[in-house]
Amino acid sequence: MQTKIAKILYESDKHISGQQISEQLGVSRQAVSKAVKSLRDKGFEIESITNKGYLLTKMPQKLCEEAISFYLDTKLIGRKIEVLDTVGSTNDYLKKLGSQGAQSGTVVLAREQTAGKGRLGRTWQSKKDDGIALSVLLRPEKSPAEISSITPLTGLAVCRAINDFCRLDSRIKWPNDIIVGKKKLVGILTEMSAEFDRVDYTVTGIGINVKNTTFPDDIAHKATSVLLETGRHFDVNKLVVCILKNLERELVENHYNLSGTSVADYQLLCATIGRSVTFTRGRRKISGMAVGISNSGELEVMLSNGTISTVNSGEVTVQGIY
Ligand code: BTN
Repeated sequence: MQTKIAKILYESDKHISGQQISEQLGVSRQAVSKAVKSLRDKGFEIESITNKGYLLTKMPQKLCEEAISFYLDTKLIGRKIEVLDTVGSTNDYLKKLGSQGAQSGTVVLAREQTAGKGRLGRTWQSKKDDGIALSVLLRPEKSPAEISSITPLTGLAVCRAINDFCRLDSRIKWPNDIIVGKKKLVGILTEMSAEFDRVDYTVTGIGINVKNTTFPDDIAHKATSVLLETGRHFDVNKLVVCILKNLERELVENHYNLSGTSVADYQLLCATIGRSVTFTRGRRKISGMAVGISNSGELEVMLSNGTISTVNSGEVTVQGIY
């Protein structure tokens, strides 16, 4: 009901009385005033004038389910959304929902994570409302080997969304960090639950530094935020919508396939290609020149003897970046 009232207020450019809303929805005046109070608690600024009624004057500036749902017109991703004030990790929370049967496309966001996870066993930190922590559950009807495309396609979708919405020139550091210049803006962590030949679900977690102005000492030299890069505050709910729409287009509408077009688009946005890189194989550190992305999203590296080696996971250091 809160969503319905929020929508009525959003669509009205003049005051609308509690009576009108209650008649329109077939609920009591008390129920309307209770819902308006809850919406105000969520950050909707709603003016209330005696004998005139309510007027929505400002949309929430913090993450809010109702605000995201207004703007979203995707068919699958985000049809079910939950925004949490605080959680350990949105990925862990959503994996639990996944194991309980949550539908494909379910999205969980949190204003704060207390145990955010990064790739390779690292942590992902951000203070309340500084960043966006977002996880998406998908149930591709594929085998584990067929979904290696999720990582590059997510990187592509998020990079595009940020560039379009924030007018930034961000790039992808293979496999799917999003960077601006030499600093990291977004980290992505995909996890999966699968049987031998069938994926049960994947959970892709996206952490975006939005309003951060400082970072912990150990990452301060290589981390940045949308605010630091643009000097501007953006509507986080609209940014989330832009990301979800791009994810739907790249992942769902492409049936999780890394098409030739997606590979070409990824390569154009990939900051790793054309640079010297170092990666580990077993215990050995190997260096070479990143020359491309394969059809399954692996990084192709030309070694000093001219052969091409493909890298499909792990840590890659890119000269001049990190
Ligand atoms: C990385 O760069 O190492 C990946 C960072 C991924 C962070 C996001 S924030 C939302 C989701 N929940 C988590 O615990 N991690 C991911």
